[in-house]
Amino acid sequence: MNVYIETLGCQMNRLDSELITGQLLAAGYEITDDLEAADVFLINTCSVRAQAENKVYSRLGREAAIKRRRIVGVLGCLAQRRGASLLKRYPFVDIICGPGQLHALGEMIRHAAKGERTVACDPDRRDGRAVFASEGNSSIDSLDHDRNASVGSPAQAYVRIMRGCDKFCTYCIVPFVRGPEISRSPEAIYQEVKQLADAGRGEITLLGQTVNSYRYSAGDTSIRFSDLLERLAAIGGVRRLRFVTSYPTDFGGDILQTMRDLPNICRYIHCPPQSGSDRILKAMNRKYTRAQYDSFIDRAYDYLPDVTIAGDFIVGFPGERESDHQASADLIRRSRFKNSFIFKYSARPGTVGAKTLKDDVPFEVKRERNRELLAVQAEVSLEHFRSFTGRQVELLVEGPSPLAGKPINVSDDPNCVQMLGRTSGDHITVFQGPESLAGQYVNARVTGATAFTLFAEFCGGGERS
Ligand code: SAH
Ligand code: SF4
Ligand code: F3S
Repeated sequence: MNVYIETLGCQMNRLDSELITGQLLAAGYEITDDLEAADVFLINTCSVRAQAENKVYSRLGREAAIKRRRIVGVLGCLAQRRGASLLKRYPFVDIICGPGQLHALGEMIRHAAKGERTVACDPDRRDGRAVFASEGNSSIDSLDHDRNASVGSPAQAYVRIMRGCDKFCTYCIVPFVRGPEISRSPEAIYQEVKQLADAGRGEITLLGQTVNSYRYSAGDTSIRFSDLLERLAAIGGVRRLRFVTSYPTDFGGDILQTMRDLPNICRYIHCPPQSGSDRILKAMNRKYTRAQYDSFIDRAYDYLPDVTIAGDFIVGFPGERESDHQASADLIRRSRFKNSFIFKYSARPGTVGAKTLKDDVPFEVKRERNRELLAVQAEVSLEHFRSFTGRQVELLVEGPSPLAGKPINVSDDPNCVQMLGRTSGDHITVFQGPESLAGQYVNARVTGATAFTLFAEFCGGGERS
């Protein structure tokens, strides 16, 4: 059977889709990128904002219009949030599978082929009943540890070091759909990273909703995130180690020091402030003040003068006034972020925000504030990117630049096309070079910049990672 997998949402979902791919290949399924011809259509979904869910609904609407009967599976966070209730509108769906149950997907497809439907979700935290690690997500490792290291991008890989989240920011659905926070054992993570590095995937990105809150305790020993970083950075073949997403108050000096000491840990921190205003931070249940966030930023630049920092913001949170919004704009300027992801507040069913706070900022105002923050960030970004002009950077080459749609060549060399690479600080960089450089590390000299991209000249390198 041919399986087509469509992936929406964040890096966690991208990793889950890669792990499912490996698992299904091992079980004898074929993976296809031809949607029309697929016997099985799987959609790995996101629930973080209403817009993310609407994408799934419209995709399922299109599927409903297809005459040919095939197996349809809704996976991931929306599947976990909606469970069997999805069937009312989409009765043709055969599989509804939350993120904690994906290890059994092959079996679910076999059942579906016999006409049996499966709804597999973890216990719902919104039932008012606490779900603990032992009962909720017994499958913490089961999808990850069967990993086939050669499935996926040839030079990079995501590795999950923890699942779930216990922070319960008042706007956020993630603690409900991804379950309780659990850290994986350092041995399992070590083995997985080693296998990936041995397979040539030298850029490893560690994933967690609050990745730096990682802590694993067994008996008398307790492994902190900085300890884990140190162990993983020492693995031969790990050329770059990244991690996302960080939570400000869990970013101790031990992590900054480890980053400073180990050059293969990328100079990149994604640590969302969400707002620059104390009033709003409190209403969001973010457990820090503006002053604490500012001092984290100062410490980060103190330890790592060349670090790149990225943020997320929510505009139009309930009760957000113009002065709160200006505080966010000020935070962007002060923090000198490389980039920020800016989202309009979207009330998520079942969250404290949706239950107790009135979504009272008009859509027009949200849109305007979104635009304003993007404009402020663009100014800050341009200054940041321009500061690289004339410098030499090391790039991991991803491939021909997709910006042009198809490979383009604006150089004199007929063997060159516009290639795209990334610096250790996550700067997208465009240069002219042969396509054979894909997956390799090269040096380049920066000749110009926009607010989103560095332009550079290839100056050599290109050994296999
Ligand atoms: N675990 C990460 C983020 C997970 S969700 C963290 O804690 O930083 C990714 C981003 O989506 C968040 O940083 C937030 O900015 C945004 N987001 C989450 N819930 C949202 C909501 N209800 N409305 C708008 N944006 C939201
Ligand atoms: Fe959501 Fe907050 Fe957890 Fe991030 S820390 S996943 S924003 S609840
Ligand atoms: Fe979306 Fe789930 Fe990620 S809600 S942002 S796919 S954890």
